[in-house]
Amino acid sequence: MSLFPILTFLVLLILHSSFAFANEENDHLQTYIVHVEPSDGRVFTNPEELESWYHSFLGTTGQPRMVYTYKNVIKGFAARLSLDELEALREYEGFVHARPQRKLPLHTTHSPDFLGLHQDFGFWRDSNYGKGVIIGVIDTGIFPNHPSFSDEGMPPPPAKWKGKCEFNFTACNNKMIGARYFTYGNGTPMDEDGHGTYTASTAAGNFMAGANFFGQANGTAVGIAPLAHLAVYKVCSGSRRVVRKVMCWRLWTPAIEDGVDVLSISLGWPSVPFTFDAIALGAYAAVRNGIFVSCSAMNRGPSYGTLSNEAPWILTVGASTTDRRLRATVVLGNKEEIDGEAIIQPKNFSQVLLPLVYPGKIAADPNARFCAPGSLNNVNVRGKIVLCERNGSGSPLLPIIREVDEAGGAAIILVNQEADGDTKNLPTILFPTTLVGYADGLKIKAYINSTSSTPMATLSYKGTVIGDDRAPIVASFSSRGPSLESPGILKPDIIGPGVNILAASPVSIEGNRNTRMTFLLGSGTSISCPHLSGVAALLKSAHPDWSPATIKSAIMTTADVVNLAHNPIEDQTLQPADVFATGAGHVNPSRANDPGLVYDIKPDCSMQTEKWLSLRNRRTVTNVGEANSSYVVKISPPPGVHVAVKPDKLDFTKSKQKLTYEVTFSRLTNVANSSNFTQGFLMWTSGKYLVRSPIVAIMVD
Ligand SMILES: *[C@@H]1O[C@H](CO)[C@@H](O)[C@H](O)[C@H]1NC(C)=O
Ligand SMILES: *[C@@H]1O[C@H](CO)[C@@H](O)[C@H](O)[C@H]1NC(C)=O
Ligand SMILES: *[C@@H]1O[C@H](CO)[C@@H](O)[C@H](O)[C@H]1NC(C)=O
Ligand SMILES: *[C@@H]1O[C@H](CO)[C@@H](O)[C@H](O)[C@H]1NC(C)=O
Ligand SMILES: *[C@@H]1O[C@H](CO)[C@@H](O)[C@H](O)[C@H]1NC(C)=O
Ligand SMILES: *[C@@H]1O[C@H](CO)[C@@H](O)[C@H](O)[C@H]1NC(C)=O
Ligand SMILES: *[C@@H]1O[C@H](CO)[C@@H](O)[C@H](O)[C@H]1NC(C)=O
Ligand SMILES: *[C@@H]1O[C@H](CO)[C@@H](O)[C@H](O)[C@H]1NC(C)=O
Repeated sequence: MSLFPILTFLVLLILHSSFAFANEENDHLQTYIVHVEPSDGRVFTNPEELESWYHSFLGTTGQPRMVYTYKNVIKGFAARLSLDELEALREYEGFVHARPQRKLPLHTTHSPDFLGLHQDFGFWRDSNYGKGVIIGVIDTGIFPNHPSFSDEGMPPPPAKWKGKCEFNFTACNNKMIGARYFTYGNGTPMDEDGHGTYTASTAAGNFMAGANFFGQANGTAVGIAPLAHLAVYKVCSGSRRVVRKVMCWRLWTPAIEDGVDVLSISLGWPSVPFTFDAIALGAYAAVRNGIFVSCSAMNRGPSYGTLSNEAPWILTVGASTTDRRLRATVVLGNKEEIDGEAIIQPKNFSQVLLPLVYPGKIAADPNARFCAPGSLNNVNVRGKIVLCERNGSGSPLLPIIREVDEAGGAAIILVNQEADGDTKNLPTILFPTTLVGYADGLKIKAYINSTSSTPMATLSYKGTVIGDDRAPIVASFSSRGPSLESPGILKPDIIGPGVNILAASPVSIEGNRNTRMTFLLGSGTSISCPHLSGVAALLKSAHPDWSPATIKSAIMTTADVVNLAHNPIEDQTLQPADVFATGAGHVNPSRANDPGLVYDIKPDCSMQTEKWLSLRNRRTVTNVGEANSSYVVKISPPPGVHVAVKPDKLDFTKSKQKLTYEVTFSRLTNVANSSNFTQGFLMWTSGKYLVRSPIVAIMVD
């Protein structure tokens, strides 16, 4: 075991905590990450006991020096120590190792950092950043000249690579080793849309310092598997015009035979039976050939049953936020502050309070609440801050901006509709704006209602802020289960970063002609999918013998179900998200690298679902953790269902050993639960590992 398989999120917290001390005078203390193990093999039964054991290492120095305590993957803590104190600590029983904590540059796409992937240590280093693995991206092609696809530091493609480069100029290199097109008409893998360039750079873009978008999210942009190779398969010339016909064997045979290890597909159409679904069929053949397939769940949430790409052999990826915010705060006349977000942040916006107006409250035109074209004719918004409701996160904003601008408005507070909740899918608008969530919009409206004098407000632009501890939050647009085509399989499988992510763009949206280094902030499951493709590539590089099913199992059983603040992951309503929103949870790459047990099941085309009163379910797990290990089962049954597991303890003595257990679900008759489904989980735990599987019971009468 590597010493620091840092749990997702934890490093970020350390960085922030230490920032708090950065300005102290005479600061001779440094933050160390201290790894400890009880020498007597003691098992801690509750977090308080563990915490108090950690504190015992700091003696009288105590609490103020403790920066962070690890409770999951490793035993240890981060503390601010002098060199003398560090030396003293080494003498303690249970001390294993200490290393100074590094101040790491923030990565712009930030999501690698958010996923616990850090340069020079931990899983990123141990997986060689995806070296030797080939990710095939089926999308709108690629813009090959972007510096994210530079092959600096890249080895040549592996010997098994049989792909082609169909650009009519020298475009491929050791990063982008193949590019083919399956479109009609213009014969080039060139990306004329931008979607393919964006997704490919998210999966495997090279390190690119100084990336930003309108000055926001400034830092080093990098994909999840920066040393993996890219093979590009262009199947459509516009992300909104997926040509169904090309998603056929004409594409899949080359994609499979060229020798890719992972296929990343951020395309799809609404649920259709698998026998008509070219992605499901093609992916089936790919998985049978040892290729891992990751697909976007689509952006039709938050209603139930809105998934695409839901075949059991596909990793179906939903989208959630990272802890980065592009903060643009509304300051109200009563001094209340409400945080919104904006990409374009004018530096010179006046901090003097201006009158605040909500046309929806005072105008007769029912479209005035959206500030729709023509609706502000009889409303005085000149010099005022104008509150406009956003008519759905995909609705065009340009006409609204024009309406407010022409009427002389000073700035716009855009408010989400209820369905979008708190998800801020940021538009790029060259006008002073901020986007606030639905509940926050109600607060502003309540202020307008309650104030007897003129309501006042201004916008305070605070730039890029890291550390929102409610993250990850499931995005409103992320498609939800249950799967209509295979209701017996829980979907989506996993969630990953997909809200306001910076990645490569072929053209400069900022209109900057002097740079090849162009980036774009975007949102969607199209973006979370390549994150997971990158994670799969890292796992394949670290474990070349793992099958697609093993990789999928490792990603899912180790997923996080709590956010940075250790509360249950929430959805756009800021209430705990259900399993049809999160699937197994939020990807935790470092834990997926060391899952303990895996379920390695062959993809199987036949599935049946039936109404049942009692259902028996045999599952086999393979030990990929420590040879000698014992697991006990922990069950949290879905309300209304009795779950029994036999045996309830699994004792392994060898690596790769397989053991089988049997689960029996029986429906309890006397349970009143108004909800039409209930959820729970089954978890195998050893001292070191947690192997978790969600269970959902759909109630049918
Ligand atoms: C390459 O292909 C593009 C698009 O089909 C075409 O416009 C261009 O003239 C071609 N260039 C060469 C050198 O053949
Ligand atoms: C981005 O960060 C780099 C390094 O910290 C700095 O030199 C550069 O000026 C920043 N750019 C912007 C637009 O903030
Ligand atoms: C549960 O019932 C509600 C109301 O009938 C419906 O909108 C929702 O889609 C159902 N959820 C599931 C998971 O079937
Ligand atoms: C702020 O700066 C922009 C761009 O430099 C300029 O167009 C705008 O008029 C300025 N606004 C104010 C209120 O000074
Ligand atoms: C708001 O969105 C709905 C649904 O997309 C649409 O029917 C309606 O015309 C829109 N209203 C305005 C004013 O844009
Ligand atoms: C504000 O007042 C209007 C009636 O004038 C009411 O319909 C609305 O619900 C109120 N909004 C809030 C958020 O209190
Ligand atoms: C596994 O554990 C058993 C019982 O604790 C012990 O006898 C055996 O030597 C261990 N085997 C290995 C390979 O560590
Ligand atoms: C009904 O099921 C839901 C979902 O599992 C659970 O949160 C809730 O507590 C249950 N209610 C009762 C009364 O058991």
